[in-house]
Amino acid sequence: MEEVTPSQRLFVPSLPTLWPSMLLGRGKPSSFLPFCAPSVRYFYFARNAVWLTVKMLGLDKGEVLVPAYHHGVEIEALVDAGATPRFYRVGSRWDVDLEDVEKKIGPKTKALYLIHYAGFPGPAAELRQLADRHGLPLIEDCALSLLSADGTVPLGATGDVGIFCLYKTLPVPNGGALTINGSRQYSLPEPPAPPATSTFSHTVSALLQNLELRGGAVGRGLRRVIRSLGHGTVRAASIERVATGTQHFNRQHVDLGMSPLTRRIALAQDLEGIVDKRRRNYFFLLGRLREVSTPLFNQLPAGVCPLFYPLVVQDKAEVMGRLHARGIDAIDFWRHFHPACDAAAFPEVAQLRRSIVEIPCHQDLSPEVMADVAAAVREAVKPDRRSRKRTG
Ligand SMILES: Cc1ncc(COP(=O)(O)O)c(C=O)c1O
Repeated sequence: MEEVTPSQRLFVPSLPTLWPSMLLGRGKPSSFLPFCAPSVRYFYFARNAVWLTVKMLGLDKGEVLVPAYHHGVEIEALVDAGATPRFYRVGSRWDVDLEDVEKKIGPKTKALYLIHYAGFPGPAAELRQLADRHGLPLIEDCALSLLSADGTVPLGATGDVGIFCLYKTLPVPNGGALTINGSRQYSLPEPPAPPATSTFSHTVSALLQNLELRGGAVGRGLRRVIRSLGHGTVRAASIERVATGTQHFNRQHVDLGMSPLTRRIALAQDLEGIVDKRRRNYFFLLGRLREVSTPLFNQLPAGVCPLFYPLVVQDKAEVMGRLHARGIDAIDFWRHFHPACDAAAFPEVAQLRRSIVEIPCHQDLSPEVMADVAAAVREAVKPDRRSRKRTG
């Protein structure tokens, strides 16, 4: 790998950072889900909402049809709650195979589960019809699709329930949500607030990231010093920090609620502005990268709030190594199947798992930074293309 000089090093975190002013902002009513939902429960994680949905809809001891393209933690939550996942096909463009879904509906099927990938809408209306024809509930998993819509229809509004994750899109310390659509009422417990120390620890991390984002080398140095002091304090005070973004479901955390600070920060955001900035950054990458890597999608449909830019690569490890060396926190998107899913039965999904890298396009990244990101990605995939030519 070529040497990266300090001046070439960027700071491009995968998640948006917390600006100090956001702690002082005043919350306002929002027209976005889940905040505007008439029936909503908030949790620490989205996975808690998945678990509770199984219990609430009585899906335990039955089958839930789920996509073969999944994170894995949502499947773990379903299984822990007592449901059996049965997998349906997803094609190479994140397209749900509706015929396969219908074929797999059987006497044991208790619900259909749709995941909207990175803000890109899945076929909610079609699955709604299918679910209604068979008398099944539809679960819409929007964990990667907060603030996103299919045209004017918000994601999460079509299913019997919508599931959201707040901390992947907004600079909040934790947060997931379960919205209940339709007129049926469920009496759900109000989950207790998480330990304040955990919220504090995540909030400080996000503030330090912001310092580095704004402060360049000085901010980076300061962040390093404060972090090492902070780690010592966390250890010394044995602060309980419930990590977010983890790969596995943990039953011990299933009852954990969302912190009041999350709501405050979330509602103080300019949510429409966030959608606009993410779309602007996505368009920019699409234009700059299409000639070095065939885009997964040639356009950005109306209403979509992209979580990241899905870059298609030949050799994930190599490209990610080069991007990390440049300071871009590119993420290996969904490498692994849940063990209950037979990878050999879903070759297109296996190929997606081998080839998609997340490139950040969130609201903190200015047009200038995006120009640097695009240039770095072009550099990073060039050797990848050479090796493809050699092997192809
Ligand atoms: C599709 C999907 N559903 C649910 C979850 C769980 O989200 P959380 O980390 O908030 O529990 C994830 C996490 O990445 C996910 O990708």
